[in-house]
Amino acid sequence: MSQDITDSHGRRVVLEDITDDNWRAVADVAPTDDQRRFVAALGARYLLLSMRGGLWHSLGVRADDTIVGHVMWAYDDEGGAHWIGGMIVDAAEQGRGVGRATMRALIRRLTALPDCQEIRLSYDPANTPAARLYTSLGFTPTGDREDEEIVAALPVTPGT
Ligand SMILES: CC(C)(COP(=O)(O)OP(=O)(O)OC[C@H]1O[C@@H](n2cnc3c(N)ncnc32)[C@H](O)[C@@H]1OP(=O)(O)O)[C@@H](O)C(=O)NCCC(=O)NCCS
Repeated sequence: MSQDITDSHGRRVVLEDITDDNWRAVADVAPTDDQRRFVAALGARYLLLSMRGGLWHSLGVRADDTIVGHVMWAYDDEGGAHWIGGMIVDAAEQGRGVGRATMRALIRRLTALPDCQEIRLSYDPANTPAARLYTSLGFTPTGDREDEEIVAALPVTPGT
């Protein structure tokens, strides 16, 4: 059985599908005002993108009993990579290890997929917290840009 992933307060962090019970809380997830230059103002925007776009899969981030964030993933069948996007840790919950726990949980989930060979994401060059988090997890810039954002990749070794 895989080990629990916890934040720095010892709360168990899990990713869950969007349901009738959690969608309101996930929709209300919001970054700080200053961070709205990097991401949508509310989780609701990403939920709608997942519902209507047919590409992204939204997940709620739960720490024990509380919804604390949103993250989503997609498979790019042209490039053959899985992508992570739309990560928001609610402003009141930041700095407690939730972002790191979310990334660990999603990387674990994606690498377990049989066709997962590489995980990609992109971030604004000015988004220092995101850049540090992704670099510390092993993502390295590919040299590509996506809407002016730096694209970074994590190779996946089969069987890890
Ligand atoms: C980026 C974000 C998801 C990080 O979530 P978080 O729960 O606050 O992060 P954590 O507490 O797990 O910290 C993880 C790492 O992020 C980095 N980090 C977090 N806050 C930081 C800050 N204010 N300054 C610099 N680095 C920071 C650090 O590397 C940290 O690791 P450390 O604690 O070992 O030093 C969160 O700040 C957020 O939601 N920002 C707005 C949305 C956004 O920018 N999403 C990413 C789009 S690409």
